[in-house]
Amino acid sequence: MVGHAAYLLLKDYKHSHSYREHTDVVGVHLKDKVNQTMAVALSDVESLVFEVIEELLETVDTDFEDELAGPVLLVADLGFSSIDFVQMIVSIEEKLGTKVGFQDMLMQDGKYVEDLSLGQVVDFTLQRLSNPVASAAPVQVSAPVAVESAGPTITEDDVARFTTLIKPRKAAGVTPSGGKNPRAVFVLSPPRSGSTLLRVMLAGNPELFAPPELHVLSYASMDERRADLDGERGDQLREGAVRSLMQTRGWSAEQARALIEDCEARGEGTGDFYARLQADLGGRLLVDKTPTYAFSVDILRQAENYFDDPLYIHLVRHPCGMIRSYEESDLTRMMPLMMKSSEFSSAAVAEMIWLLSNRNIMQFAEQVPSQRWCSVSYEQIVSDPQAQMTRLCDFMGVNYHQDMIHPYSDNNARMTDGVDSSSKMSGDLKFHLHSQIDPAAASRWRQFCSESMLGQPTLALLDQIDAGLAKVRM
Ligand code: A3P
Repeated sequence: MVGHAAYLLLKDYKHSHSYREHTDVVGVHLKDKVNQTMAVALSDVESLVFEVIEELLETVDTDFEDELAGPVLLVADLGFSSIDFVQMIVSIEEKLGTKVGFQDMLMQDGKYVEDLSLGQVVDFTLQRLSNPVASAAPVQVSAPVAVESAGPTITEDDVARFTTLIKPRKAAGVTPSGGKNPRAVFVLSPPRSGSTLLRVMLAGNPELFAPPELHVLSYASMDERRADLDGERGDQLREGAVRSLMQTRGWSAEQARALIEDCEARGEGTGDFYARLQADLGGRLLVDKTPTYAFSVDILRQAENYFDDPLYIHLVRHPCGMIRSYEESDLTRMMPLMMKSSEFSSAAVAEMIWLLSNRNIMQFAEQVPSQRWCSVSYEQIVSDPQAQMTRLCDFMGVNYHQDMIHPYSDNNARMTDGVDSSSKMSGDLKFHLHSQIDPAAASRWRQFCSESMLGQPTLALLDQIDAGLAKVRM
């Protein structure tokens, strides 16, 4: 358990003008100490954490008007959402210039905690900075209980009703104006399948260009994409393309956005937009991982119209792991194609997304020559990353590179930072909570769920998947 003694010493610590000035330099000062593995002071860590919280409070919708202090709770008092938690963590780590392994602070007995005090965050950070080796050994945090998932048992009738709630796009099938684009690679999976981790691992290979989710293939033209991906969440889903242009052209976010707005205004075809991205890659293979493509076989077929012999990586994960992950995330409000409220529980929605996405992907696979298809599981990737990356490299015809199995090195090259804010990368925010590839994450669901909660259609597909090369029952 994280000790409370240290934080109790500081519980009456108040913010003042001089404190604020002090925090301007404390990040740099602390980063230097961390770099030089010098002892860090509790007051410095607290200053840094409070500074991060103050910055975040400028964007969080909160009624909190008191002064920050150790007992203040992030959710109950400050109104933090899970995204704010991740933003806090990314900001702290950025200011420290090191990963802290906050996953261990947020987990208790395999569940995510529901709230934490500022004192707990300070104590945990201090403890990790004082003993970095401890990152490997999970630390327990006392906190309220997390939500249990009730087990649904879905039927084909449920699946048929659910399918009418998803309104996937009908891709138009127009070939790019210059003919088919060069080969690209698509990572196909339902959401919450470890796709961000795989994307970032692939991005570690200098022969590949694997940006955050592009959300391009689902649309015929860039103006159609702009109209569909609207609002705050839509804005975030459009950022992968912005981040790509920033990376390949060394541009600012404004420059990249201006080009995309121009493409939208001219109604540029999405096939031509892909050509634009690929023209900057200097021969590197473009990898597009966007989980929502799997919502429709029509969208998947579009890849065959746009690219010359594209390659497909089918990423699978045990449905119980995906369902548990979905329930823990705020995904329902992030899904662009989903109805937010429906007759189904979130676990049932998750299971049907797993089922429909994998069914679509496997139906599409029947139309693709087997040498252009490769399946891999999240469970295999986290348990034996090097062997799986070697296998995927052989499939893609590129050399294996050792950086692929160090996904937390070189954030910029891997585009794990967002466009305007580090933690707003489109994709899995939980990627930021880990500090290394975590094999235990694959079996965590076993503490709370069992296959008995799964419906017959899901079990049948699970058996089919697990009988292939991509094992999910490990
Ligand atoms: P959990 O929610 O079960 O932890 P996606 O990117 O497709 O949405 O997948 C998200 C899942 O990938 C989450 O699963 C997340 O924790 C897991 N993940 C992200 N980074 C990871 C890492 N470094 N090691 C193991 N799992 C990771």
